[in-house]
Amino acid sequence: MTTPTFTPRVFSGIQPSGGLTLGNYLGAIKRFVQMQEEGLPTVYCMVDLHAITVWQDPADLRHNTRELAAGFIASGISPEKSILINQSQVPEHAQLGWVFSCVARMGWMQRMTQFKDKAGKNTQNVSLGLFGYPALMAADILVYHATHVPVGEDQKQHLELTRDIATKFNHDYGVDFFPITEPVIEGAATRVMSLRDGSKKMSKSDPSDASRINMTDDADTIARKIRKAKTDPDALPSETEGLTERPEARNLVNIYAALSDQSVDQVLNEVGGQQFGSFKPLLAELAVAKLSPISTEMARLMSDPAEIDRILARGAEQAREITVPILEKTYEIMGMVR
Ligand code: AMP
Ligand code: TRP
Repeated sequence: MTTPTFTPRVFSGIQPSGGLTLGNYLGAIKRFVQMQEEGLPTVYCMVDLHAITVWQDPADLRHNTRELAAGFIASGISPEKSILINQSQVPEHAQLGWVFSCVARMGWMQRMTQFKDKAGKNTQNVSLGLFGYPALMAADILVYHATHVPVGEDQKQHLELTRDIATKFNHDYGVDFFPITEPVIEGAATRVMSLRDGSKKMSKSDPSDASRINMTDDADTIARKIRKAKTDPDALPSETEGLTERPEARNLVNIYAALSDQSVDQVLNEVGGQQFGSFKPLLAELAVAKLSPISTEMARLMSDPAEIDRILARGAEQAREITVPILEKTYEIMGMVR
């Protein structure tokens, strides 16, 4: 069997289940923009079908989907250069998702740590969709034959499952049809932590708003949250090793590095020896300088939701030029009568 080479294509998605956080921006969106600017074909998606694995108020889901689209565009994703979609307008995602839930094995799914974290003790009462979620995620990616997927660290296991599904499908049907996707987990902030607890991921679902920076926070709110961020009493070290065992300090330095496009070493060269009392205002100033143009542009875009809807409708048309033939070919390989 010859191994076909797949032309590079980038796909990634974010759930419209709340507002965007600094974690989404630094862990994912910033890299999405870079990959677009490298001239690669890119598809970026608001995964509304993933969001409903946990009940969403319909008005909130509609608002959050548009606001997420506005966040993408305000951060530099251009609908002229990238295909920008919401998942439910491209039905082939869900169709291939069903196929993949017949390829994935129960044992594989039971190992998913995100499911275990989200379900907690409540495993009997969460939706079946929450359990099957990674099969739909694999379909999102593979229905484009995407080869590269930029994500934060927390998605690594789901991308390994995507590779397992592609490998098993190819093997079971004796084809080399689906590519083995590469995760792209890069940068100083692939795992941005909560401002209140350096052992927890910054998340839009954390009950404490002070734990995260939202992309829609104003300058005063950002400055206040950084001022109140949990730290330790020591000064900042001059070397990276000095951050081990200091999760809160490491998190703030990582954020500074990612926002200023520097390495952690470069940042510590500049700020090593400083107390948090002087570092935090620097970080707040940098965060406001980087984020406020984005939130201003988001607000402007949100004043014309019809334009956002037009962009997403056009994105869906462009997307389906890719997804319809790939789904058709998948069905044909499997023996579905056409
Ligand atoms: P979600 O908000 O869970 O849909 O995540 C969307 C993208 O943002 C994924 O690529 C995540 O890995 C990334 N992401 C979410 N939270 C963080 C975080 N705290 N640090 C880094 N990346 C994150
Ligand atoms: N599971 C991802 C998250 O919660 C969102 C997602 C869905 C995704 N489909 C995807 C990410 C495909 C990358 C590629 O963050």
